[in-house]
Parts: sequence; C-alpha cells; structure tokens
Amino acid sequence: MAVAELSTSFTETATCFRSSQLSISSSSYSSRFSHHLRPSFRPLPRTRIPTISCSLTSDQVQIQAESPKGKKECYGVFCLTYDLKAEEETKSWKKLINIAVSGAAGMISNHLLFKIASGEVFGPDQPVALKLLGSERSVQALEGVAMELEDSLFPLLREVSIGTDPYEVFQDAEWALLIGAKPRGPGMERADLLDINGQIFAEQGKALNASASPNVKVIVVGNPCNTNALICMKNAPNIPAKNFHALTRLDENRAKCQLALKAGVFYDQVSNMTIWGNHSTTQVPDFLNARIRGLPVKEVIKDHKWLEEEFTEKVQKRGGVLIQKWGRSSAASTAVSIVDAIKSLIIPTAEGDWFSSGVYTNGNPYGIAEDIVFSMPCRSKGDGDYELVKDVIFDDYLLKRIKKSEAELLAEKRCVAHLTGEGIGFCDLPEDTMLPGEMSSRKDIFATSRSLLRQSREPQPLPVTLVHHHPVILLRLVPSEHLGLPPGMINLGR
Ligand code: LMR
Repeated sequence: MAVAELSTSFTETATCFRSSQLSISSSSYSSRFSHHLRPSFRPLPRTRIPTISCSLTSDQVQIQAESPKGKKECYGVFCLTYDLKAEEETKSWKKLINIAVSGAAGMISNHLLFKIASGEVFGPDQPVALKLLGSERSVQALEGVAMELEDSLFPLLREVSIGTDPYEVFQDAEWALLIGAKPRGPGMERADLLDINGQIFAEQGKALNASASPNVKVIVVGNPCNTNALICMKNAPNIPAKNFHALTRLDENRAKCQLALKAGVFYDQVSNMTIWGNHSTTQVPDFLNARIRGLPVKEVIKDHKWLEEEFTEKVQKRGGVLIQKWGRSSAASTAVSIVDAIKSLIIPTAEGDWFSSGVYTNGNPYGIAEDIVFSMPCRSKGDGDYELVKDVIFDDYLLKRIKKSEAELLAEKRCVAHLTGEGIGFCDLPEDTMLPGEMSSRKDIFATSRSLLRQSREPQPLPVTLVHHHPVILLRLVPSEHLGLPPGMINLGR
C-alpha cells in the first residue's frame, strides 16, 4: 500500500497516522524546536475530514497528541486525518525527503519554500518535509511562514517543522540550504563579517555533522558564501567534502543574461558558462569557454574590450546595482538560482554543457590552490554528485583573473583559521575585496577602528588576531582576556 512505499518507518504496524502534519509548536518558541514522530506517511486528501481520528495499538508507535509539556505537536488542519481514497493516487510517489532551510523567515526563503513545496524543485512525485531554522528574533515570522505554507494546501508538503536549534532542525536532513547570515552593515569590515558569519556556519557545520543524513547535500548561500561553505565543511568531518556547495549559480545566470543581451539572443542560447572563484567582485565570468548558439562567445561578440571590461564588471557588481535600485539584496533571483543549483545536481547535465558551483578544490585539474571552496565548472549525472569539467581552456587574461580570486579566498581562509580548526585567524584581506552587493570599498581607517572596537565587545570563542593593513597604520586587535585587560578593552598597536 501507499503507506508502506512512502514511509521511512513504522509502516507495517501502524494503523493510525497523523497525516501530513505540518507541525509548528504553538508554544513559547524560545529555542525549542517543534518536531514530532512521523510514524508513517499518508497522502494528503482532496477532501479533509474535520475530525481527529487516530487509533494505535500499544505495540505500535506511540504518538502523543500533546507533548509532555502539554504543547500540541501538530498544528490546525494538519492534525486531521484524511480521505483514505487519496492514498491510491500517491502510490507512485517517492520516499519523503527532508529539506532543512536556514534563514527561513527571510526574503530569499520566502520565494524558495513555496517553490519547493509545490514540487517545482524536486518533482511532482517527490513529497517533502521542510525543516525551517530561524533565529530567536524570527520565531514569530517563522510561524507566519508555516501558516502560509499551510494555507497553500500543497499536496507534496508533508511536514513543516520550525525551530532555532540547528542540531534539532537539521535532524535527518538530506538537503541543507543555508541561507541565513548576518548582512554586512555600515562600517563593518569584511573581516568582521567573516568572523560573525563564520561562527554561525561553524556551528551549523557541527550540527549537520551530528544530526543530518550522512550524505546531506549542503548549499551555502549566506555571504561570504565560499568561505562560509569551507568553514561549514571543516566542522562537519563526517560529511563528504564534495557535498558542500557555495552558491555561484546566480552569478552564472547573471552572466548568461548579459551575454544574451549583447548578442541579441534569448538567454537559453547561452551555455557552458563558468563563474570561477569567489562570490565577490573578484569572481571571473568566463567568456573564453562560454558559448552562444554553440559558438565560442568571442566569435559572436567581437567587441572583446566589452567582454573584458564592461561585461565582467557588470556581472561582478550586479548585486550592488540591484541593491541601489531595489533597496535590498536580490531575493527572488537568488531563490531561482538555488532551485537551478539543486536541479543541476538532481537532473543529468545536458550533453556538452556544464554549470557553475563553488566546490572544494582538492584534486581539481586546473591548478587552483587546494583546500578552498572555489567556483568551477561541474557536470552531474543527476545523482546529487558532480564532476569537474576537464575540457576547458585558459588564456593569460583568464588565468590572471582566476589567480586574483584565488588569492582573495586564500586570504579569507587565513582569516577564519580559528573557525576551521587550523590555528589562529589572521586577517590580511585585499583592500578592494567586496561582496557583489557592496558598491564601495571600505578603506576608511576610522571605520576599521570603529568596527574593531565593536568587535572587542563580541564574545570571541577562539583566539583571533585581526590585522588590517593600511598605508600608515597597522591595527592589531587582541581580545582583552588574552592580555589580562578588563573585558571590552583592546590593544591598538603598530
Ligand atoms: C548578490 O549577489 O546579489 C548578493 O550576494 C549581494 C549581497 O551582497 O547581498
């Protein structure tokens, strides 16, 4: 029967099922996570029966309508049982998959979650459980998201859980879409951002390592995504390094769009588009290997100066221009690119084509430094895994640009060594390093000292040494406790 096909557990003995169970805790939402047993899996009905009818025998799974603390485990309509006839319609459904999403109350997620729940991402025969991670501040918003999912009556959406503890939310996750990150605020140095977000991703890496499916596929979206992905990966030694991706698909899509515009073709005519490197303004949109209508781009677009200068910069800074126009970071197009990134891994890559993803460099055939997360051209058989593309060509321009992005990522890596278990973090970042969304470099020494002062009040889990080069002054921050100074004091030295 359909139940046996779809369930991950208890399928043979349970005679009562709590149906689809979009589950959110109606309680305090502090750091709790509302999750419930999933004794079996039942199809959503066309007709919902407005009664709770559930019976279990004692040797079967124990389901509590109320948790020990008296809190409901299921929510509203999802506590009801459904028309059994609908079971027949779902016999061909695949086994339920668990998808964890961090930053679930944010704008990107708001676009993404409904695509996933509708079946647009994983397919019309793929039931999904959504596990939504938010911050303490966002629990009300998370509940709102869950309510909207509930009201959408998606047949494939079988469970929704929300919480603030990654160890609980990531339980059995087969996909982890890590979107939540602190945005860079005014006066905040990239080093600060790396440290603050790095701590989040170190924690989430540990949580994935402890709780997620051992073969979980992780797509890191929160910026700076390459280095966050590296940190996450280093903190999750039980998960294959190959499973970690930093999202550069949005950059690929942007590059395709610009080439299509210039060539006067629709963007589906642009293929083989690689973004090399970091999701930052050093990223390299590769027009040497890309193709338009199957032809090398340089044969179609003769204005090579445009390719080297305008096109490259347009792609690198597209996020920033968008922020200027829109007043906030890209959200819908980022969500679409996350969908594209997932589909690239679960659908075989078209013959002769490839896609870009920020992946671990160990063993790469291009001579790119090992042990960083770098965007490179990939192909997939559709099994969730990928291989790097071998038949790409390089010229001096491309190599020089790739080297610059590589140097930036190596500097970022040194900066977060305290978060990857590789010693003391030492930030000596190139001055012009920016996220695509940043429009101006932040070289202002006063901003630097302000941010250092602020950071000195932040808890430092491990010893960190941040060094910011400036033509005249070198600022060195050593956490006060390492110097025997009162908390909050810093040592500014040369
Ligand atoms: C983007 O590329 O649109 C974003 O990564 C920009 C940003 O900095 O938020």
